[in-house]
Amino acid sequence: MVNIGFFIIASNLMDKLVIKGGHRLKGCVTASGSKNTSLPIIAATLLVGSGTFRLHHIPDLQDIKTFTQLLHHLGAETTFSENTLLLSTRNVESIQAPYELVKKMRASIYVLGPLLARFGHARVSLPGGCAFGPRPIDLHLMAMEKLGAQISIETGFIDASIPGGKLRGAHIDFPVSSVGATGNALMAAVLAEGTTTITNAAAEPEIETLCQFLIAMGATIRGTGTTELEIEGSDALQAIEFNNVFDRIEAGTLLAAAAITGGEITLNGVDPDQMKAVLKKFQHAGCQVETTANSITLKSPQKLIPTDVTAKPYPAFPTDMQAQWIALMTQAEGTSLITDKIYHERFNHIPELNRLGAHIEILKNKAVVHGPQKLSGTTVMSTDLRASASLVLAGLVAEGTTEVLRVYHLDRGYEQIEVKLNSLGAEIIREKYKEFS
Ligand code: EPZ
Repeated sequence: MVNIGFFIIASNLMDKLVIKGGHRLKGCVTASGSKNTSLPIIAATLLVGSGTFRLHHIPDLQDIKTFTQLLHHLGAETTFSENTLLLSTRNVESIQAPYELVKKMRASIYVLGPLLARFGHARVSLPGGCAFGPRPIDLHLMAMEKLGAQISIETGFIDASIPGGKLRGAHIDFPVSSVGATGNALMAAVLAEGTTTITNAAAEPEIETLCQFLIAMGATIRGTGTTELEIEGSDALQAIEFNNVFDRIEAGTLLAAAAITGGEITLNGVDPDQMKAVLKKFQHAGCQVETTANSITLKSPQKLIPTDVTAKPYPAFPTDMQAQWIALMTQAEGTSLITDKIYHERFNHIPELNRLGAHIEILKNKAVVHGPQKLSGTTVMSTDLRASASLVLAGLVAEGTTEVLRVYHLDRGYEQIEVKLNSLGAEIIREKYKEFS
């Protein structure tokens, strides 16, 4: 802290990425494990009171560290080494997820269902605001109530208990498709008495993987991978060894990095079937896409064709790729329209992309991208995870040097992103800087 006359200036040491643009990406790279699958899987370990879980292919990311910290706080024992997480929840005694941890990550709400199902009581701090608009949790609470929980909100906490002693199977019909609420409902229903049916369930691969994980633990779930799930409650589940799936959003981001630089890359360790909507859009944009059972090769065209996308629940184009697609379309030969039907206000990246020279307008929940624009490097600020990814993509093609500040957003969800991009020919260095407030 510096005291200058009447002013007190605090400074924080943070990481930034310094990107020298203009390198065509070329080569092979392997996808990391999925963040958004790891989180519900780790939460689901709370359902079991004995044994040790061995979870492989867990990405080494800040969000995973934060979530593991939350489990520690509840009493779990964890060890993480070389992407394998060993987890024992047998000594968990606390049922309270505190604000200090929940505020760091909204996905902490995933502990609600498992804690309630195992202990009959859970207290989870209400998650705060979000950088890209309202993110309510009403559907999580509705699902718990349907299963017989009594919920009250007091002193900033969700307090959930079961007056009947045990959750009871029920019919849960989600008015909106929600990944998190479907995950929580599933994790509660697997220990409920009787049968639960979920309609309009999220069918995202992250939920499909959670179902596979719960089934491997001994749960009975029908309809995996569809929007209608049926769960027979079990008395007890068991700890297992499990291989996590690849991160489809990281994979899409790396393909966009190749496409924006006019490059050609092969991604290994992926399942192209989970990326059909995204791959179709790359093809529409003029990219050549070849797939095998576990790889995707993308060759960029001479000129990118403007391609509209609408982000909607799976199997449609994912909202988590919307920002990266906007960055890509700044280089397409014409105008493209990007609509987000999940998070209508998720456009914080646009003013920053425009600072790099893009010409993007926002019309309600649509972004109108006028390409091609020559981008030129400057200092830009990350505001959330995928917004940061879009700035890195823009930096790869911008003339000169782009500095992306507040990289901690990016580190929440991309494992060694600059190492991976540099291995494909990018020129990115990570540096410390002081941010004054
Ligand atoms: C998950 O968030 C992902 N997070 C998000 O990824 C992703 O953007 C989102 O799903 C949509 O695909 C994790 O998996 C940890 P939702 P989640 O509930 O589960 C509304 C990233 O960048 N809704 O599927 O919180 C909500 O407002 C992150 O990795 C309610 O109305 O999202 C939204 O419009 C960011 N009430 C829609 O449902 C509720 O109770 C879908 O949200 C819950 C959600």
